[in-house]
Amino acid sequence: MADNQTNLLLLDFALFRDMPESYFLLDKVGTIRDFNSTAHSTYNVSGDKEQNFIGILAPESVLSFEHAIIRCTGGEKSIVFQIHMKDRSDRIIDARIKMFLLNNDPEETEARVLLVVEDRTEANMNAMNLTRFKYVAEHVSTPLQITDLAGKMIFINSAFENESGYLKEELLGQNPRIFGSGKHSQKLWDNMWSSISSGKSWIGEVENRRKNGDTFYSHLQISPIFDSDKKILGYFGLHRDLTGQRNLEKQLIQTQKMESIGTLAAGVAHEVGNPLASISALAQIIQRSTKDTFIIEKLELIKKQINRISKIIRDLVDFSRPSNYELKSTDINLNLREALDIVRVGKKAKDIIFKYSLDDSLPKLPLVSDQIQQVFVNILINAVDAVIEMKEGSGSDFIGEINAYSVMKKDEVIITLSDNGKGIAEKNLNKIFEPFYTTKAVGKGTGLGLWVSYGIIKSFQGDIHVQSQENQGTSFIITLPVNPVY
Ligand SMILES: Nc1ncnc2c1ncn2[C@@H]1O[C@H](COP(=O)(O)OP(=O)(O)OP(=O)(O)O)[C@@H](O)[C@H]1O
Ligand SMILES: [Mg+2]
Repeated sequence: MADNQTNLLLLDFALFRDMPESYFLLDKVGTIRDFNSTAHSTYNVSGDKEQNFIGILAPESVLSFEHAIIRCTGGEKSIVFQIHMKDRSDRIIDARIKMFLLNNDPEETEARVLLVVEDRTEANMNAMNLTRFKYVAEHVSTPLQITDLAGKMIFINSAFENESGYLKEELLGQNPRIFGSGKHSQKLWDNMWSSISSGKSWIGEVENRRKNGDTFYSHLQISPIFDSDKKILGYFGLHRDLTGQRNLEKQLIQTQKMESIGTLAAGVAHEVGNPLASISALAQIIQRSTKDTFIIEKLELIKKQINRISKIIRDLVDFSRPSNYELKSTDINLNLREALDIVRVGKKAKDIIFKYSLDDSLPKLPLVSDQIQQVFVNILINAVDAVIEMKEGSGSDFIGEINAYSVMKKDEVIITLSDNGKGIAEKNLNKIFEPFYTTKAVGKGTGLGLWVSYGIIKSFQGDIHVQSQENQGTSFIITLPVNPVY
């Protein structure tokens, strides 16, 4: 736009008629000299010769406007700035203004400033909404994901990163299939797709895999995102974490199972115990009253078997009876050291390295000393067996190692016993605490050690867990509350 009078006279506002922006022609004090049809339909401009542009500004913007016009008439050819204006119904408009100086003749008092006014209200609102949405989406604790029409992820929030264990960069552009656990049928996903692509929400409970392979369960809701013409733009997925709940349910089932087996076992032990005692007594009487070496020998075998059954019965009874013993303030480290001493003198343990790191500041716990020691011994004997089995499989270079570790965390004492033995296959991890589960040769193990240990730890309001990897080793983690509520 040239700044001489000839061109100014040529400026025909009819040219700007149906432009999306509003055009105004002002004189140097801001009086409105001309405007286009968009300006007329948007703002309260009357065509009155004396009307000043300030009259259609929001009060807080008057000063900025006056500054701009002073700068412009002072020689700046074009200025861009944002102000608030009032439309015909007094609504505030976010206006982006480009101001041009058309004529710089000081004598010229007529029109010489052109304003191009762009209504940014909706665009600014959209940008603001987007910022707000992003802020909320980033800060909610609900994992959130948005996919495009092809099902590729285009947005995920931080909660989703935490939940899945993946980073944003690893997920954007990927299909959510990468969380697939393979546990659900194709039909489930087909149903989901047919629901959401027809514009409906889909809700289901799914089992997913984290990056590290762990399972996470979520209550998943996927809904379509529509544009203003009701066309689907993409989909958003909300996950509600069910992992904690599922794990609790699993634990509860496991606990109930153990309890019912315990009750059953105690009943059987009681019923079998009495006749067994009679058989044992009778065998001794016969043995004493005969000189026949054949009979004496066979009775010896019978007594051996009876002892074996008695030991099993004692274990069964121990599982369900710990609460009958008197609790005493117990030094758990001392117990652990004694258990280690008992196990390491065994013939099988002679080549194994035992290490321990025990926290000497542990408080004393209300326990039954003999029983807690029995738990440690059971676990340590298993560790020795596992290390030996590993050594048999991997040759003479292998050095077995067993570690004991105790520490206080919040109001619990945690004892970890680990070995570098042959480990436990994942599919068997939840069986090892069951009674009579053993992988040892017939006559070598009864499969009651861990079951009894589990019962004892539970009776002290504690917990016992296992972590293991095949051919790497196993850790048993025992937690005991410092102040159990009985
Ligand atoms: N540290 C370990 N490493 C590898 N496997 C283990 C370990 N501890 C336990 N297991 C597995 O768990 C099974 C059950 O152990 P548990 O102590 O209950 O019975 P057991 O040792 O077989 O017999 P026992 O009644 O004589 O203790 C074992 O047979 C073994 O397969
Ligand atoms: Mg055992």
